[in-house]
Amino acid sequence: MQFFKRREDPVNEPPMAPQTQPPPPQQQQNGGQAPPAGNPFEPPMRAPEYDPMAIPRISVADRLTPVIEAEAHADDFFSMRRGATADGAVFSLEPNEMPAADGATSVLGADVQDLKRRIHKRFVKESEDDIASVSRLTKDQITEQIRLLTATIVQEEGVALTQTQRRVLIDAVVSEIAGFGPLEPLLNDPEVSEVMVNSASLIYVERKGKLIKSDAYFEDDAHALRIIERIVAPLGRRVDESSPMVDARLPDGSRVNAIIPPLALKGPSITIRKFSKDPYKAEDLVRFGTMTPQMVEFLRACVYGRLNIIVAGGTGSGKTTTLNVLSSFIPEDERIVTIEDAAELQLQQEHVVTLESRPANLEGKGEVAIRALVKNSLRMRPDRIIVGECRAGEALDMLQAMNTGHDGSLSTAHANTPRDCVSRLETMVLMAGTALPVRAIREQIASAIQLVVQQSRLRDGSRRITQVTEIQGMEGDVVVLQDIFRFEQRGMDSNGRVVGEVKATGLRPKFVSTLQAHGVSLPKDLFL
Ligand SMILES: Nc1ncnc2c1ncn2[C@@H]1O[C@H](COP(=O)(O)OP(=O)(O)OP(=O)(O)O)[C@@H](O)[C@H]1O
Ligand SMILES: [Mg+2]
Repeated sequence: MQFFKRREDPVNEPPMAPQTQPPPPQQQQNGGQAPPAGNPFEPPMRAPEYDPMAIPRISVADRLTPVIEAEAHADDFFSMRRGATADGAVFSLEPNEMPAADGATSVLGADVQDLKRRIHKRFVKESEDDIASVSRLTKDQITEQIRLLTATIVQEEGVALTQTQRRVLIDAVVSEIAGFGPLEPLLNDPEVSEVMVNSASLIYVERKGKLIKSDAYFEDDAHALRIIERIVAPLGRRVDESSPMVDARLPDGSRVNAIIPPLALKGPSITIRKFSKDPYKAEDLVRFGTMTPQMVEFLRACVYGRLNIIVAGGTGSGKTTTLNVLSSFIPEDERIVTIEDAAELQLQQEHVVTLESRPANLEGKGEVAIRALVKNSLRMRPDRIIVGECRAGEALDMLQAMNTGHDGSLSTAHANTPRDCVSRLETMVLMAGTALPVRAIREQIASAIQLVVQQSRLRDGSRRITQVTEIQGMEGDVVVLQDIFRFEQRGMDSNGRVVGEVKATGLRPKFVSTLQAHGVSLPKDLFL
């Protein structure tokens, strides 16, 4: 169905390369020997007073950027230990202890786990003399070396291994050396969409929308911490007692949050929201049953016709994914500015400026909030502003932008119904510290936003757009909402799947005239 001028489908380019790759490694540490002059590991000449509380004040990102880069590589074989002595901050490399567990626990028995430890240890030992060149090896080269080493050790020890055990064993050692340890198999599993480490020994995953306990585990808290450091270090971020929460991204763009003791009582906790390298497109969401082809055409028209749209939904309901799909409907020739806490959107257009907010540094300085970025984006001549998620005061700036000519803007909000979305926005505007009366805020919302796309994760794990709702305006003190499409659940089938369908309510939205002004006309039967 096509009822308005549709631009060419975007060229199917691979997603933007994440900017998390560290530059080529620096000169590596020489095995814990006194570092040569100019070495970034060198302690400061005049040591500050030693104060245990001050240890975390070492500003790694500011002072030791080269070390961080080196760490990202050196950490494959060695961990960088941060510490403090009377001489001040000291950084040293120490061989990694061999962690035991991985996601393949069920394939590798306890004996083989032990063998895995020995292979890793021997590799570390044999690499000790030439860390610099070993750390430049590609993953394939490391795999080859581990394969040879495994063959040698298996022969020396006369161990009997099945082909599968041997493959899983090699993968597990390589993951420890060059990957994310026990998380690696989960990250590589295309069926896993989310990885949740509750504690070192308890890891859950989301598979096909369902939360399932995984058999992967970390050896101990230190092992989990080491993997977190490996994730965050290349981004110049850090995690320790003084900054126990960190947001990061994996090289493939997956979003990572880690929180460690003393805030996390059961040890380091990690949450990874995986993103498919190929972002979902409208066709995928139709295939998953998230939206119907009619809805796609309707939403395409709404985006094309420059409506301001909020995607509402609960945690993990697929808001960002749907926002990404909506943004793909923006014509190629429009200038888009995206603003996010962690850049998750993968826009296919070329004319895009991607902005990411920044948390405060250790001294509590340097924070650049979403709000400031929204304000700044107005000076960047945007045709469209996309705010990844409205959580707080930025809602006010967003509404003001929408009301002052920056129409066609898109965002998401955490809310369970479109009505809830309106009241959340109200609260967010109040969080901006404005003295506006509630009625004025409601008027702003009612005139700024035309459409709420409500998404939910249903009991069977499926994600669906459950309501597409027009914000029509105000009646007295109340914002008037009108559903255009609604998902009606009829029950569950014998396989525990939700049964139901999307129905048009039969009401034509009031914004049809706005769409017509943009050359978009919707067929009448779309709403029947
Ligand atoms: N329509 C869908 N069908 C199936 N899986 C989906 C769908 N949309 C998103 N997902 C998957 O669900 C997970 C959560 O998606 P997404 O990040 O878009 O949700 P979110 O609502 O933005 O989450 P958060 O509240 O954490 O920001 C991702 O792994 C994504 O791949
Ligand atoms: Mg999101």
